[in-house]
Amino acid sequence: MTGDSGKTPAAKPFLYVVVCAAGIAQDVGRLIAAARERGWEAGVIATPQGLGFLDTAAVEARTGRPIRSAWRAPGDPRPFPAPDAVAVAPATFNTVNKWAAGTADTLALGTLCEAYGLGVPIAVLPCVSDALAAHPAYGASLDRLRGMGVRFGDRYSGEPDADGRRPEFRWERVLDLLAPRA
Ligand SMILES: Cc1cc2nc3c(=O)[nH]c(=O)nc-3n(C[C@H](O)[C@H](O)[C@H](O)COP(=O)(O)O)c2cc1C
Repeated sequence: MTGDSGKTPAAKPFLYVVVCAAGIAQDVGRLIAAARERGWEAGVIATPQGLGFLDTAAVEARTGRPIRSAWRAPGDPRPFPAPDAVAVAPATFNTVNKWAAGTADTLALGTLCEAYGLGVPIAVLPCVSDALAAHPAYGASLDRLRGMGVRFGDRYSGEPDADGRRPEFRWERVLDLLAPRA
């Protein structure tokens, strides 16, 4: 039996994993595995562009649920339970700016805009190049979202280090950011 949230009384907390169209998105399975180890159930919501970066079958096998990217049809049941928290990883320049502006023209953006009003914790790992981050809109968007209580990890630029290697993305940081605070 389920209540309004769509969860059974003993259900694990449900994490929405919002995935944007950055190259690193192909490794999101690591985040899902880490989340499950920490006791979360997870469901992936990809941006329409982000969907193309994912191995859909592998992600769905890990979560046990379909990836969502499009709005459900009116009258269809909600495919996921209500979120207990939202992780945005990787977060693109485009999504960060549209979210801060209050644009909700995709399921991913609508979910992010609504999460603030739901009062659930939201954590973000931006994957944005130095060149894009220099645009004034980006800093203004971060300020606005931080002012709404959204928690940000350090920006990952994807730039190779002095040895020519790309640093690790460290997906689990987003779970650390969501951990309860004293
Ligand atoms: C291979 C590839 C890698 C990309 N990586 C990034 C990235 O790391 N960060 C970013 O902000 N945009 C990146 N982009 C550009 C985004 O995909 C593009 O801005 C897209 O509109 C973002 O859509 P979304 O925010 O709805 O996911 C990349 C594009 C391609 C083709």
